[in-house]
Amino acid sequence: MQILNREKLVEVLERWKEHPSVTGLMEKFSQLKSYTNKNYKTIESYTKQKIKESKYELVELPYIDVTEDPVRPELDLQFRQTYGRKIFGLKDDVGEISAIMCFAFTNDVPKTVEEMEMMSHDAALQSIHRAGTQGSIAVAYTVWAKKKGGGRAIVNEVYKMVKKSNHLNRLVTLSPLTDMARNFHIKNGAKELQVNDTTQNFEYDITLEDWETALVKAKEFLKVK
Ligand SMILES: CC(C)(COP(=O)(O)OP(=O)(O)OC[C@H]1O[C@@H](n2cnc3c(N)ncnc32)[C@H](O)[C@@H]1OP(=O)(O)O)[C@@H](O)C(=O)NCCC(=O)NCCS
Repeated sequence: MQILNREKLVEVLERWKEHPSVTGLMEKFSQLKSYTNKNYKTIESYTKQKIKESKYELVELPYIDVTEDPVRPELDLQFRQTYGRKIFGLKDDVGEISAIMCFAFTNDVPKTVEEMEMMSHDAALQSIHRAGTQGSIAVAYTVWAKKKGGGRAIVNEVYKMVKKSNHLNRLVTLSPLTDMARNFHIKNGAKELQVNDTTQNFEYDITLEDWETALVKAKEFLKVK
């Protein structure tokens, strides 16, 4: 992709506005801008400052009240924590959990909770045999917000986590057939993968080559390492 000038660059970035990493992207973009505006001596000192200012922290939760889950209250705590399944909470700046998201790790995309149970069970057993980390697909099967805006924020943090991970290469959802789930995920930049009889799958693209290329070009353009 050719980035010939600043306007073209902004145009490319604008196209990715709806992506979950938009916060990160815009942060990086303003990072580049602040650097060139000489608000910070080095890009490292700016980054350190930003990390300090970061409001959220993703934490694995050992206990939640499953009856609070508006999507799948029937899944008990044991289900959510066996065969490598995990519960994540988003801790905000005052130390409160503002959203919760539950995951299974599989090697295929499940269309039902039963399929997901089987697939994550198989992935867990395979990983014991191969002494590796289990399942390359992170399946988000429920998400709910305890504070407004928490839902979107936890998706952003999970997205960053999966992107950084060495063994996960896809982030998909196993969502209920509701408008709320559809609007929420599409608005956060996910693409519809498939609509099933009782669920729908969305996928967050973790490759994002276009904007990453744009960022590299932006750095070159602004002469930032
Ligand atoms: C969906 C949810 C997680 C969103 O949390 P959030 O990001 O903190 O909250 P917001 O209220 O800012 O909503 C973000 C977007 O979700 C969608 N949404 C939220 N409530 C909705 C509703 N009642 N109907 C349709 N879409 C809705 C909208 O796209 C909304 O964006 P908008 O306000 O710009 O229209 C939260 O509403 C929730 O906990 N819902 C119950 C559980 C659920 O259905 N989870 C999603 C499917 S797994």
